[in-house]
Amino acid sequence: MSDWTAGYIADIGYTFGYYPELNPLAAKLAFLFSGQVYPSFSTACELGFGQGLSVSIHAAGSSIQWYGTDFNPSQAAFAQDLASISGAETKLYDDSFEIFCSRDDLPNFDFIGLHGIWSWVSEENQATIVDFLRRKLNVGGVLYISYNTQPGWSAMAPVRHLLSEHAEIMAAPGRGILSRVDAAFNFVSSFLEVNPGFLRANPSIVDKLKRIKGQNQRYLAHEYFNRDWRPTYFAEMVKLLEPAKLSFACSASYSDHISALNLTQEQQNFLKEIPDDDFRESVRDFIVNRQFRRDYWVKGARKLSAQEQLKELRKIRILLVVNKDDVNSKVKSSIVGANIQEAIFTPLMAALAKHQVFSLSELEILLQEDKVTMKSLVQAVMILISEGYVAIAQDEELLNNCKEKAVKFNQHILDETEGSDDINFIVSPVTGSGIYVNRFERLFIKYIKLGLSDPKEWSEKAWALLSSSNQRLLKDGKTIESDEDNLAEILKRANEFSIKRMQIMKALQIM
Ligand SMILES: C[S@@+](CC[C@H](N)C(=O)[O-])C[C@H]1O[C@@H](n2cnc3c(N)ncnc32)[C@H](O)[C@@H]1O
Repeated sequence: MSDWTAGYIADIGYTFGYYPELNPLAAKLAFLFSGQVYPSFSTACELGFGQGLSVSIHAAGSSIQWYGTDFNPSQAAFAQDLASISGAETKLYDDSFEIFCSRDDLPNFDFIGLHGIWSWVSEENQATIVDFLRRKLNVGGVLYISYNTQPGWSAMAPVRHLLSEHAEIMAAPGRGILSRVDAAFNFVSSFLEVNPGFLRANPSIVDKLKRIKGQNQRYLAHEYFNRDWRPTYFAEMVKLLEPAKLSFACSASYSDHISALNLTQEQQNFLKEIPDDDFRESVRDFIVNRQFRRDYWVKGARKLSAQEQLKELRKIRILLVVNKDDVNSKVKSSIVGANIQEAIFTPLMAALAKHQVFSLSELEILLQEDKVTMKSLVQAVMILISEGYVAIAQDEELLNNCKEKAVKFNQHILDETEGSDDINFIVSPVTGSGIYVNRFERLFIKYIKLGLSDPKEWSEKAWALLSSSNQRLLKDGKTIESDEDNLAEILKRANEFSIKRMQIMKALQIM
């Protein structure tokens, strides 16, 4: 391993993930819902951007000037190319955190984000980041940070120790990281077969390991095999970020904002008795056995008055981004089996079904007859967003400013789709965020843009592409063998796209 890596896995590139929490717009509703002043953003920075998909999408979908760094030169080169396609003036570097954070050509930032970084870097790097936040995050500015936390890792942390020790000590010299990952997991499997005391004390690890082994190998290499790997308790994070004058603002996971989704009434009552905000947050992590936190922090928290909060909430704009028939009032992500009340859900979905952008104030008026209060409306909207049914739309002016950039970015992704399936997100100028669009859907959009209007034509063209490189479709985990069956399956997907998804893609101004 070369020494610029500081013990970080660098001999295999990272996955092409997209993280909506890194979009400053996503912080807006979270801040307003929890009654806090939400700043405006003109400069932002992502530390450790990986392949740079999130930063490229957020730069293409907004007027924010984005900066960032990732010390892996292959990833930085890929990210620089990707970000430049939209024409956004993004400045991405291949500096280590140490070098980047001491640059003298950076502006101050309104938003700094790091996803999947904190728990995997050394304490020196963490200190460098905190110092950067102290110096370069504007007063009122927001930090998004995700990290592994406790107590959710209490059983698995020793297993990860064993995995990484095996990779370090037992792997034959010269073996690539993927083969070391494989060998380490095989070792742990045989270790569990001898019924060790550790397994008897922690029986849950069997299921956990099974789930982990099924994940993307590149992700596994980066998640479990770095030299540095430390979960941080929430209370420790409070202390570590204090020198940067940061205080906890709110969770970036919207479902955390609605206690009834994940806590029983008894648990909610127990937490209400705890007067200290930070300690309450720590205890909540123990109640839900939290393993990973995604949080917003702020430099100088300010509370909104109840009137200001209502006024700002009313301006939030949203739209439905899935087919209305796929939306359920039963909340998928709820641990305690919560539902959105039918009295709100039914009229709200009737309005949203048109896939138009509505402000919450417009919805409030539309739902007046159904006696839906603003409070319950906002709660339902938060749940629908966290379930992935609804997205926040940016202001009309911002939308118009980024339209051209979004078109350029998306055309590139569509063109790349013929040769690769690495990137599954494109940008919507309406939401300013990434939208998941699978490979077939991207091909169909591309063909529609070329002037083909019939799903039959799209499917024939898509099948010609796949069959020319001997690719076959998978259905229920099995390969479809015959040409006819492959073509029929693509046609089915093309028809579904035309009936269910096209209207949504148009509403998102992706086509
Ligand atoms: C787990 S990946 C997360 C990437 C991206 N944020 C994401 O979630 O897709 C961590 C990234 O941090 C980068 N990284 C790790 N240590 C770094 C350092 N000291 N300086 C700069 N980048 C670093 C790695 O190259 C890698 O791309």
